[in-house]
Amino acid sequence: MRPVYLDNNATTRVDSEVLQAMLPYFTEQFGNPSSMHAFGAAAGTAMKTARQQLQALIGAKFEHEIIFTSGGTESNNAAILSALQVMPERAEIVTSAVEHPAVLTLCGHLQKTSGIKVHRIPVDQHGRLDLDAYRTALTPRVAIVSIMWANNETGTIFPVAKLAEMAKKADAIFHTDAVQAVGKLPMDLKSTAIDMLSLSGHKLHGPKGVGALYIRRGLPFHALIKGGHQERDRRAGTENMPGIVGLGKAAELALKCMDEENRRVKSLRDRLEKGLLERIPKTFVNGDTLARLPNTTSVTFDRTVGEAIQLLLNRHGIACSSGSACNSGFFTPSHVLEAMNIPHTAALGAVRFSFSRFNCQEDVDHVLQVIPAIVTKLDGSFPVPVG
Ligand SMILES: Cc1ncc(COP(=O)(O)O)c(C=O)c1O
Repeated sequence: MRPVYLDNNATTRVDSEVLQAMLPYFTEQFGNPSSMHAFGAAAGTAMKTARQQLQALIGAKFEHEIIFTSGGTESNNAAILSALQVMPERAEIVTSAVEHPAVLTLCGHLQKTSGIKVHRIPVDQHGRLDLDAYRTALTPRVAIVSIMWANNETGTIFPVAKLAEMAKKADAIFHTDAVQAVGKLPMDLKSTAIDMLSLSGHKLHGPKGVGALYIRRGLPFHALIKGGHQERDRRAGTENMPGIVGLGKAAELALKCMDEENRRVKSLRDRLEKGLLERIPKTFVNGDTLARLPNTTSVTFDRTVGEAIQLLLNRHGIACSSGSACNSGFFTPSHVLEAMNIPHTAALGAVRFSFSRFNCQEDVDHVLQVIPAIVTKLDGSFPVPVG
């Protein structure tokens, strides 16, 4: 059985060119970039290259607007916590109801422990942000807006350039969690009002445990991790050199292949979506199909349970993810589909398929071949205990 991996929004396979670029940094190139000798200088040069590769991918004006972190979660935490320290007189955060837990959990924690007010802007049934609610929330009390560029479950893209302009008028810092968007969408940060952006290596065929935070030049910033003087005092700790080199290489490859890969991946995604909608009744797509990542589809098989479909697909070697979770015997829909007001019967039947450069047409055809029988078998498995 050939494995079919369609869970690329969870993580991606490291590209072999990325691995090749990383390997020397585990062996002969083991220098610490802070060291004042040739070993250190070689590491410093490699870091500079990686920073420039990322700069090119996101269209930053200056390479030192980018600091390396341990991933998307750290970058999001660093951005939000910094803004609250920079503007202590402002004690409100604006975010959306459909953010990743790397933002929502932190916001909930701040609300509980520090009395910070959090505005979670709602979305409509297609996952589009309520712009009126956003406008209303933007008051002089807001320190930071943190809104994702693209949603990890549905692929829905938010108009972040426009949202950043609006935040700027309220003198609030604008941060975007672009973990799912970087490498998939063209970006030119220097022509936007975006102040900070988070990205993660493992979502773009780079290694896990490395990411970056873009901090627009001149923006006051307080380091989350304090210690040595690395990253110009913005992120202490000896740098993850193999990871950083790998992230840089992944960024270079993403930029080089973006247009062609997006076309190819989109046609695979659309082939799967069309095939599912044609073959299986009571099936529909979640999210904004007009403004959507080219690699993502969230499909609901109404009156079934996505988690069960995922488990049965796994038996056929197919990896995907579901929008529901089973906690202590109760099924709960994802907070994203819940925020979209998708009825429970539909939200519980959601399955996410996400593609990458390593997928091909046979992958899609294999899914289309096995899934109708699985759904027929499960049809009517609803009602299930709902949490
Ligand atoms: C939108 C989004 N933000 C943040 C993260 C967390 O990134 P990391 O795994 O690098 O901490 C993820 C990972 O799933 C994500 O999809």
